[in-house]
Amino acid sequence: MTKDQKTSEPWRVGVLFSRSGFMAVIEETQLRGTMTAIDEINDAGGINGRPIEPVLYDPSSEPSAFGRYAKKLMVDDGVTTIFGCYTSSSRKATLPVVERLNGLLWYPTLYEGFEFSPNVIYTGAAPNQNSMALCRFLMAHYGKRFFFIGSDYIYPRESNRIMREFLRESGGEVVGERYVNLRGKREEFIPIMKEVENRRPDVIFSTVVGDGTIFLYQTYADFGLDPKVMPIASLTTAEAEIRAMGCDVGEGHITAAPYFDGLNTKFSEAFKSLYRRRYGEDELTNMCVEAAYFQMHIFAKALRRTNSMDTDLLRTMVLNTEFDAPQGRVSINPQYGHADLWTRIGKANRRGQFEIQYESPSRISADPYLIGYGRCTALG
Ligand code: ACM
Repeated sequence: MTKDQKTSEPWRVGVLFSRSGFMAVIEETQLRGTMTAIDEINDAGGINGRPIEPVLYDPSSEPSAFGRYAKKLMVDDGVTTIFGCYTSSSRKATLPVVERLNGLLWYPTLYEGFEFSPNVIYTGAAPNQNSMALCRFLMAHYGKRFFFIGSDYIYPRESNRIMREFLRESGGEVVGERYVNLRGKREEFIPIMKEVENRRPDVIFSTVVGDGTIFLYQTYADFGLDPKVMPIASLTTAEAEIRAMGCDVGEGHITAAPYFDGLNTKFSEAFKSLYRRRYGEDELTNMCVEAAYFQMHIFAKALRRTNSMDTDLLRTMVLNTEFDAPQGRVSINPQYGHADLWTRIGKANRRGQFEIQYESPSRISADPYLIGYGRCTALG
């Protein structure tokens, strides 16, 4: 028997999501998804009779704080598995810590791809699971001229590089590309929206995150622009941001994601009622809550079998694990440690929910390096 098997102590895990600062609007919901799953697992008896105990820190939307707290969790708190991070810059700050100390980071957020670490399980969408379908959908329904607006950090710049490539291959064009400070205020969007008015693109493709999302859509509404003609399309605008900007402001805009609150399947209904019982009947789930929730269940499934928090044992057990997530059955792809996920495109309605416009016929294997899309040579 290993040391892990003898003790009756809780399984301690690290949890790093911001409850303050400009990313709290979405990271707070990832914390909720994590805690919902932990309580569900513990209420059902825990893992082999032992509860999961979260050790929580609030990195306050500051990427470097994620790295510092990850180190504190692993060195001072004796934690080996961490659930956390929304922005790619916070993931990049955490990566060297988990790699050096051989921890396991569970990352429940869509990202730009082109990364692999044996110390990370990626459960949000890679570009082949969201950007590609969104590009095709937008070109078919709105037109070929895109204007890119992003927050100024790695995810938007890389995500736009990929979207530009998809567009070029399909005969589309980028007619503008602007970035705002991650902590940017509403005024920063005014000159950008003036430029949008002048250029008259068919679509605005937004990779703005956090509070900036709210300012972008509100500025768009202030300019009297019409989503029926020129929507904002995004991979990062979820139900949480739509609620924060005002459902009337978000109505008619488009997002691609594996999961929306508007999805009505057996597993999504069960998940939504669990979430609403905890947080209030008016609360909406979103893709980030859902990924945070299902990744904890995948962890629990693997831990039940390893009965040990040893990172190498856990990772081996996690690969190929399947789970009936609210979005549909998902699986951890053994090649890359990324989740195979569903692709959906939704249009926001007046209640802040997304109505599904497109759904992949089956789940899409994660291809973070776009190897299956060999013609995108510039992407490597
Ligand atoms: C992100 O920064 N991965 C949205």
